[in-house]
Amino acid sequence: MLSRIKDLATNIAPRLIEIRRHIHSHPELSGQEYQTAAFVAGVLSSSGLHVQEGVGKTGVIGELQGTGEDKRILAIRTDMDALPIQERSGLEFASRTEGIMHACGHDVHTTVGLGTAMILAQIAEEISGKVRFLFQPAEEIAKGASWMVADGAMDKVSGILGIHVFPSIPAGSIGVRYGALTAAADDLEIVIMGESGHGARPHEAIDAIWIASQVITTLQQAISRTQNPLRPVVLSIGKINGGRAPNVIADKVQLLGTVRSLHPETRANLPNWIEKIVASVCNCYGAKYQVNYRQGVPSVQNDYFLTQLLQSSAEEAWGSDRVQVLPEPSLGAEDFSVYLEHSPGTMFRLGVGFKDRVINYPLHHPQFEIDESAIITGVVTMAYTAYRYWQQVS
Ligand code: NI
Repeated sequence: MLSRIKDLATNIAPRLIEIRRHIHSHPELSGQEYQTAAFVAGVLSSSGLHVQEGVGKTGVIGELQGTGEDKRILAIRTDMDALPIQERSGLEFASRTEGIMHACGHDVHTTVGLGTAMILAQIAEEISGKVRFLFQPAEEIAKGASWMVADGAMDKVSGILGIHVFPSIPAGSIGVRYGALTAAADDLEIVIMGESGHGARPHEAIDAIWIASQVITTLQQAISRTQNPLRPVVLSIGKINGGRAPNVIADKVQLLGTVRSLHPETRANLPNWIEKIVASVCNCYGAKYQVNYRQGVPSVQNDYFLTQLLQSSAEEAWGSDRVQVLPEPSLGAEDFSVYLEHSPGTMFRLGVGFKDRVINYPLHHPQFEIDESAIITGVVTMAYTAYRYWQQVS
């Protein structure tokens, strides 16, 4: 079956390159993937899948029914949105839309999803259950997965596979990871309210800017002394608003930041931990405060069994030297984790780096580029893992 899947992939390779370049040239922002969705729906229905559009606003679902009695549903998830970045790759098929670029490889993910659908449709008689392809919108704003789930995308799903390109792994190789792959990402807002006054008479005022600086410093120091160093927490304040004039003491400062963590128990304690520190600093100097902690997406925790299935399929397809078991998670975030609240799953990293280049620009860079030979690696890995999923005893 592996050689059959590889042959089918070789046959459709030119078409997949065309598809990827078409999507790359026509990027759309999160929640506005109208043309991409219509294009995806067209390819899926011409491949014989049952297609549902408008799932999760601009998402698409394609279903493929196998021939057996297996009641399980395997989901394969890819994302379709682009970023507000002006492309500077210089490629002939670069973005034709000013200020929008597929700089995170979601054009590649979508293409791999379509390629996998085309291949599995041709071997449907070998599949005993149902495969559900999820083409989700709005991953970059961490909303699309929730929208898809709300529209029933995960109903009766028993396992889910996901993919993300990775420029620091060479094309032809993949990375798998057991356990945590990405971090939980939460939003933090702290408002500090002091009392305004003349810049020359600080003792008659409560200086919200100075107190805000103490809050930031104390938080960063406290991480190193009160959080378990083996359970990482990263807190970054990315925006500060406050003050009116150089000689007026500010009465109000707003701090906005992101909080990343890997362990659910650590994460659960963070709102309290932050509030205690903010409260103690503010109380010390007579300021009032508000802490608004909003939970974003959880950490992606890859399932052991599915990761092993993926790893062994990839090793059989490409040899073990082209499959890396990643030693470290990332503190980036990925809303694939939202699906994992409904079924076990695994997301792998598809190497897209050019072997002969010194610099492979990172994700979200205006010169980000991929080695297109990786598309076939992704499609075969996904299709063969899916095929083998049905060979396992339920
Ligand atoms: Ni991405």
